[in-house]
Amino acid sequence: MTRIIMIGSRKGGPGKTTTTVNLGYELSKQGKRVLILDFDSQGDTTKYYKPNETEFYLGDVLLDRKFDIFNAIYPAEIRGTEQENLFIIPARRGDVMTKLDMDLFSIPRREERLKFHLEKVKGQFDFILIDTSPGTSVLGVNAVMAASEFLFPTEFKEHSFDGVETLLEHIQEVMFIEEDEINFTVVPVKVDRRERKSFEYGKAYLSERWPDNHVKTTIYARTLFGDAEQEHVPASVLNAGHEAARYYKSLAGEILND
Ligand SMILES: Nc1ncnc2c1ncn2[C@@H]1O[C@H](COP(=O)(O)OP(=O)(O)O)[C@@H](O)[C@H]1O
Ligand SMILES: [Mg+2]
Repeated sequence: MTRIIMIGSRKGGPGKTTTTVNLGYELSKQGKRVLILDFDSQGDTTKYYKPNETEFYLGDVLLDRKFDIFNAIYPAEIRGTEQENLFIIPARRGDVMTKLDMDLFSIPRREERLKFHLEKVKGQFDFILIDTSPGTSVLGVNAVMAASEFLFPTEFKEHSFDGVETLLEHIQEVMFIEEDEINFTVVPVKVDRRERKSFEYGKAYLSERWPDNHVKTTIYARTLFGDAEQEHVPASVLNAGHEAARYYKSLAGEILND
């Protein structure tokens, strides 16, 4: 069965893209076939995995009912090398994604177009990961409607938890369900143990608010992630021996055992 996971938060910067990029890579290294969809308006994930502009992009899929989605699926490239188990449907740079959102607004079934298209590729992949933008958009609702589960990266900060709470409310509205019917997991990211107060606050928030919906893995704040972002490679490709290169491996292990 294909697991379709939307990575989201109503906040910019908690680590949605970093989580999509690194989790996708680690799952693929553990032998799973992974497809990443870049629904973010800035196309950050695309910068990692398909840096040169492609003939087709996500918009071609969503706007055209008859478009063959397989044409927009490209093998991910890392340092110019095509990966075996990792694929991407790229976004586009500049203001193209904002325009796509506006174009989607006026067409029928605008919120379910991704869901319908993914029916055709289900079974071809073990995981489909969707990186999203913080704001509300038709694109974002497409991601919610298509997802079978949700991953919410959050920092140990009030604003960041608010970003998760707001998105949880939104998903309930979109899917007409209650929180306990949503298949979601919260992932603590960019955690700094030296910030004692925020560390205690975050740990307490997670265990009281979502005792059964958070992972055991903690993604600590490490410069490796910023360095890897500069080179557009997953952290474990930049430095496999680094302690921080193991965080997303561990997260992938937990997701696989779920
Ligand atoms: N665990 C981490 N430690 C340190 N920096 C991180 C970590 N995770 C992400 N970052 C950095 O934080 C910034 C925002 O992360 P990003 O994944 O782009 O967030 P989002 O996609 O949610 O906007 C990036 O510069 C990224 O390199
Ligand atoms: Mg992002």
